[in-house]
Amino acid sequence: MLPPFPENLDKDQEKQYTAAWWNIFFLVIGSIKALLLVICVIFVFLLFDIQPTAFWKKKEINYTTKSTYVPIVDADDRIENGIHVSSGLKFDENFELVRANCTACHSGKLIAQNRATREGWQQMIRWMQATQNLWDLGSKEPKILDYLEKHYAPQEVGRRATIDVAEVEWYILNIE
Ligand code: HEC
Repeated sequence: MLPPFPENLDKDQEKQYTAAWWNIFFLVIGSIKALLLVICVIFVFLLFDIQPTAFWKKKEINYTTKSTYVPIVDADDRIENGIHVSSGLKFDENFELVRANCTACHSGKLIAQNRATREGWQQMIRWMQATQNLWDLGSKEPKILDYLEKHYAPQEVGRRATIDVAEVEWYILNIE
């Protein structure tokens, strides 16, 4: 198993030589064991879909799976058809920001009833800041505007429907 000893070794040297080979042998076995362990750990992580980064990353709320959104504090925090029932606001990204900053003085329904462009919403915010003591929204303002623009934009009128020629009642224009 071991390569042949060099010639002319005395008993002690022979022992040392053998021991050295055994050391190398165990080192190799130990490395293979460590490697197998690492592979096993990776395998377990893959098998159970564990993401190691999840341990130190902040959990992101997944707004698309509304039914699994957990932090429901009271019964009024129900979400139905994507609408947060008690405030009447769309439950989506930045909802918490809007709830925190926009429902202190009036109901969220006042917001949900209104439609405006981003600029329009910004003007309303400026108006409330100038006359109603609404505070400075700072870096939260763009996010709040994102939310308002996304959900409470003016309804699009779209194209007029195509004319169904067969259905039109034609008449002769009488110019006189
Ligand atoms: C400091 C109190 C306060 C806060 C906070 C506040 N508002 Fe208002 N808002 C008012 C008052 C007061 C009115 C006028 C209510 C009325 O006319 O009955 C108003 C009116 C409105 C209106 C109706 C405007 C109209 O033309 O009818 C909308 C829409 C609105 N707010 C949206 C928001 C949004 C969006 C936020 C969050 C960025 C917000 N409000 C935060 C005080 C506030």
